[in-house]
Amino acid sequence: MSEFDAITEASLVAKGGRKWSTFPGSIGAFIAEMDFGVAPAVRQALREIDERDLFGYAPYDLTADLKSATANFYADRFGWRIPVDHIQPASDVIAAFLGVLTHLTPADTPIVLPTPAYMPFFDVAKTTGRELIEVPMLRTETGWTLDLDAIAAALVPGATLVLCNPHNPIGKVYTEAELLGLAEVVEAAGARVFSDEIHAPVVYDPARHIPYATLTEATAAHTATATAASKAFNLPGLKCAQLILTDAEDRAVWKEKGQFVSGAASNPGIIATTAAYTHGGDWLAEVTAYLKGNRDHLTDLVTELLPNATYIPPEGTYLAWLDLRGYGLEGHLAQRFNERAKVAITEGRLCGEVGAGHIRFNFALPRPLLTEAIERIARTL
Ligand SMILES: Cc1ncc(COP(=O)(O)O)c(C=O)c1O
Repeated sequence: MSEFDAITEASLVAKGGRKWSTFPGSIGAFIAEMDFGVAPAVRQALREIDERDLFGYAPYDLTADLKSATANFYADRFGWRIPVDHIQPASDVIAAFLGVLTHLTPADTPIVLPTPAYMPFFDVAKTTGRELIEVPMLRTETGWTLDLDAIAAALVPGATLVLCNPHNPIGKVYTEAELLGLAEVVEAAGARVFSDEIHAPVVYDPARHIPYATLTEATAAHTATATAASKAFNLPGLKCAQLILTDAEDRAVWKEKGQFVSGAASNPGIIATTAAYTHGGDWLAEVTAYLKGNRDHLTDLVTELLPNATYIPPEGTYLAWLDLRGYGLEGHLAQRFNERAKVAITEGRLCGEVGAGHIRFNFALPRPLLTEAIERIARTL
């Protein structure tokens, strides 16, 4: 038995994080936070804020440490040797996305988004006034594939294709062949890629994460990659992400125009991220093993208790995408399950038009609560 099994609903409610306080009385399975706390190394490192009175602007040694820690983590895990001057801080991945669109892509070019997709990508498109073209993923017998023909039709020179790998909400981890296929289409169109790799550290064997920018010279040149320790190490409130600019011209523009985005990373975020990347490996391994167990348990629960649901077990992330169309439910599913089952999940429709009749379920829960959540949902069906 894992120590995570013993975490109770009462203790999570008492802590009052957003996942457990937004919908009182409901099991929090919506926003992408985990219920397992943080790595001891992160907690320890954060003492430095108090000890060094780090309440001012980020000193340059902190930023330098963040860059080296990021480079070392990516080299160790993914074999990607990133020169530290290619790494820029940001407060979060979404702010980095907004910054990339604003500063590194031509105005009035569309955003092309494979769907279902992480909800804020739609909001960012609205904020920038850019056209957003949804390209539904193709569902095969066993998984999902990108609709490369539809992507090719949607892309124009300067357009931004959003690649989310591992893919929130479907949990897909792209293979090298798939990424190379995408690269060909992007290159032929003269388009760009924003590669959101925030979930890269949480990938389950035998899947393997391949950073898109590492594939070829062309992918390095047409890509801006964003990542953060915030999902895998459970730190999203601390505000620190990393933007990896593999194109020299992008770096030159960022030097001139990216300062407000990069200056928005917080001292606690920088320190926590550095500690997580440097000393958090054992904790991450423990959490990933537990999540894999949860993923498999969820698969069993769905088979047994939700026979009309369709679900492809994710290869990465702690998010599950459940197709409930087989139940013929009407209306807003998140509201329905929150009211009737006391389980808070994410409405699939927020992930794009193709999300109608689906829900996104965050399974980073203590396993007894995961069981309880699916049992409660099943009882209402
Ligand atoms: C794919 C993806 N990108 C970005 C984010 C948000 O990250 P941040 O808080 O760094 O903006 C999330 C959070 O769940 C996510 O799943």
